[in-house]
Amino acid sequence: MKVFSGSSNKKLASKIAGKLNLELSPVEIFVFPDGEKRIRIQEKVLNVDCVIIQSASIPPDENYMELFIMIDALKRSGAKSIKTLIPYLGYQRQDHIFRDGEAVSLEVIAQILVKVGMTELFSFDLHSPKIPEVFSVPVHHLSALPLFAEKIKKDFSFSEIVLVSPDMGGIRRIKEIAELLGNIPYATINKNRDLTSGEINDSGLDGDVRGKTAIIVDDMISTGKTMVEGAELLMENGAEKVFVFATHPVFARNASRLLQHSKIERVVVTDTIDVPSFNLFPKLEIVSVAQVAAEGLKANL
Ligand code: R5P
Repeated sequence: MKVFSGSSNKKLASKIAGKLNLELSPVEIFVFPDGEKRIRIQEKVLNVDCVIIQSASIPPDENYMELFIMIDALKRSGAKSIKTLIPYLGYQRQDHIFRDGEAVSLEVIAQILVKVGMTELFSFDLHSPKIPEVFSVPVHHLSALPLFAEKIKKDFSFSEIVLVSPDMGGIRRIKEIAELLGNIPYATINKNRDLTSGEINDSGLDGDVRGKTAIIVDDMISTGKTMVEGAELLMENGAEKVFVFATHPVFARNASRLLQHSKIERVVVTDTIDVPSFNLFPKLEIVSVAQVAAEGLKANL
């Protein structure tokens, strides 16, 4: 097996290759003055199983385009299989039509990936369990939740905590982590978004958080508003402290500043997305999914 990395998350790709006792295989990514990319695989891959690691983080379109071209380069070089690990699958929140006239953008991405030659997809903590159905090749859905459960076990005493889903869509995730922790209690925030602007309209709380340390668990932090406003609501409802755990640190706009200056004690994310140095902040803690990714790839050789 040979492992290649796109340019969005080389740090994670090197760690995963290391865990597989491999080095990243060389690929030349040349950027023309107008921004177009020329990609050349610099190793023989004829009849070799290949893996490409590329997160579809900001800027998602550019990172996807690079991935499409890398897959094509491997296919034309005769690779036996082309598995792609997209630790953060961009566009996954657009997996169905919300309003008349909209595209199903995730389906467009899925069709291109398969058409250019992807033979299997690996990804972490997908927004919905139905997402694999959008792809016509096998999808391996990996998760950071066991890592989060281990950390929660280590850092908190069970009698003091309550898990919180930041919206109704996250209940499945909360149930899963509550079960990993031995069925501890959870509460749910009812968050309503405006479908045109994407802004959060209003929210309420189901469940009791009084006197507890509330731990919000989500799949991603984009602008940070869900977490910041959720933390305020939990404090208003009597929570002592609020911690947040989210797999994907998308960190759009000024999310990192909002989170640092919020009522949240600590923000735990993973390295499915490489957080650039300008988005690091003192409350942030990053745990690595490299081991989980390497095991997932090994199990599906
Ligand atoms: C939405 O359903 C997701 O699970 C996240 O809660 C959401 O994408 C977070 O977005 P933001 O950080 O912009 O509030």
